[in-house]
Amino acid sequence: MPQPYPGNPEKGPSRIRLHHLQQAKDNGEKFAMLTAYDVMMAEIFDSAGIEMLLVGDSAANTVLGYESTLPITLDEMITFTKAVANGAKRAMVVADLPFGSYEQSPAQAVATAVRLMKEGHAHAVKMEGTAQYAEHVQAMVLAGVPVIGHIGFTPQSEHALGGYRVQGRGDAVQQMKEDALAMQNAGAFCILMEMVPSPVAAEIDAALAVPTIGIGAGNSTTGQVLVWQDMLGLGGRRTPRFVKKYADLRALKHSVWVTHHCAFHCATPRGAGNA
Ligand code: KIV
Repeated sequence: MPQPYPGNPEKGPSRIRLHHLQQAKDNGEKFAMLTAYDVMMAEIFDSAGIEMLLVGDSAANTVLGYESTLPITLDEMITFTKAVANGAKRAMVVADLPFGSYEQSPAQAVATAVRLMKEGHAHAVKMEGTAQYAEHVQAMVLAGVPVIGHIGFTPQSEHALGGYRVQGRGDAVQQMKEDALAMQNAGAFCILMEMVPSPVAAEIDAALAVPTIGIGAGNSTTGQVLVWQDMLGLGGRRTPRFVKKYADLRALKHSVWVTHHCAFHCATPRGAGNA
């Protein structure tokens, strides 16, 4: 991984591939993933050296304004993925399989993943699930699709899980470890853990040969992922508590207010509009 050259992606590989992520795990190095849903943010994150761009189904919340990730469609995901792929010269572009587009069968998962790669130009897909979805992972991998397995809190199952809650407490730890191993053994190249206690994430990371990515899962995973609107302070009240904010883009509203105020009271020549 190009860790010795932060902020200078030109010195690293020209495209981040699976083996670079695996090397990071093997060498005890780290990588970063951010969500992106449009070409311009993709260009900024890509040129800043972010290794992976996730076209998350969080676009349902952050772009489309839904309460949950459930309503977003495959066609909408393909549109966002295409835009991000157009801006990502070096980063690996990963697209989420949206709710309802893979659960029925391994064949449905393959068909969805193929559309995200063929029409959306994704390089890999991410699927929420448990060991019960190992066959789906295997079928996609056989079809030539690199797959990330997403475990822990899986937002598409928000209603089944009783809302946004930390997962992997008590007896659930062993099951979560088995889920991670089942996905890895089915061919997933990476496991993403969301809202998992830090010691549990560390234990699962140690049990896996493949790299891990965490969100609200402590710092022992190989990679970290954040939703960019949360990271840059655009998420407002919806931002999860574990997120570290690096900017406060919501404060832009003051500049907008000043611009709006000036448009009426500063820039308008006296008498204009009276003619
Ligand atoms: O959709 C998404 O943005 C995600 C991240 C929260 C990991 O799945």
